Amino acid sequence: MPSYLGSLEEMRQVGETVWPGWMPKDGESHVDFVEGLAREARELGPTGVPTSTWWGVDGEVVVGRIVVRHRLTEKLRVFGGHVSYEVRPSRRRQGLATGMLRLLLEEAEARELGRLSLTCSPDNLASNRTILANGGVLERSAIAEGVGRMTNYYWILVG
Ligand SMILES: CC(C)(COP(=O)(O)OP(=O)(O)OC[C@H]1O[C@@H](n2cnc3c(N)ncnc32)[C@H](O)[C@@H]1OP(=O)(O)O)[C@@H](O)C(=O)NCCC(=O)NCCS
Repeated sequence: MPSYLGSLEEMRQVGETVWPGWMPKDGESHVDFVEGLAREARELGPTGVPTSTWWGVDGEVVVGRIVVRHRLTEKLRVFGGHVSYEVRPSRRRQGLATGMLRLLLEEAEARELGRLSLTCSPDNLASNRTILANGGVLERSAIAEGVGRMTNYYWILVG
């Protein structure tokens, strides 16, 4: 857990957003936080759908995080998709996001979905390449309605 919190701190230091749901609430124990995430896989995550979380680890070091949402809401269809990931800033450009997404595609949650929606900014070269390296097919680029940001909409067929 300290390594994971260190990873979030690195993200803050490079000016990236760390959303409240990614870390324990004030006074929440690490165990309760992780149990809460496990519950989100069966109940409703912060985006209103069940969400499974995995951490990428290298020995004792948490190097990344990847989540899969078990279904899409209209909002997620427009922006967010099924999958979201980040890699610890000091461990980027080492193939970790590509590897994490590859491993996610083997998980039961992804297989059950069969077809994953991924959205990403056209400017985010690393994320676009991560998706393409895992068989992503660009369906369209459009301004996400209500969000106002140019967005690439990809699908990955699983299995
Ligand atoms: C996007 C992100 C997860 C990529 O993680 P990563 O571990 O560095 O990615 P990889 O090392 O697997 O690299 C994937 C590809 O992107 C390329 N790449 C990585 N960083 C890059 C950069 N800064 N500029 C251009 N290309 C880059 C790699 O060369 C690789 O390309 P290749 O398959 O053609 O060789 C990471 O930059 C990140 O956490 N960003 C902030 C959060 C985010 O944007 N999440 C995705 C939201 S859609």
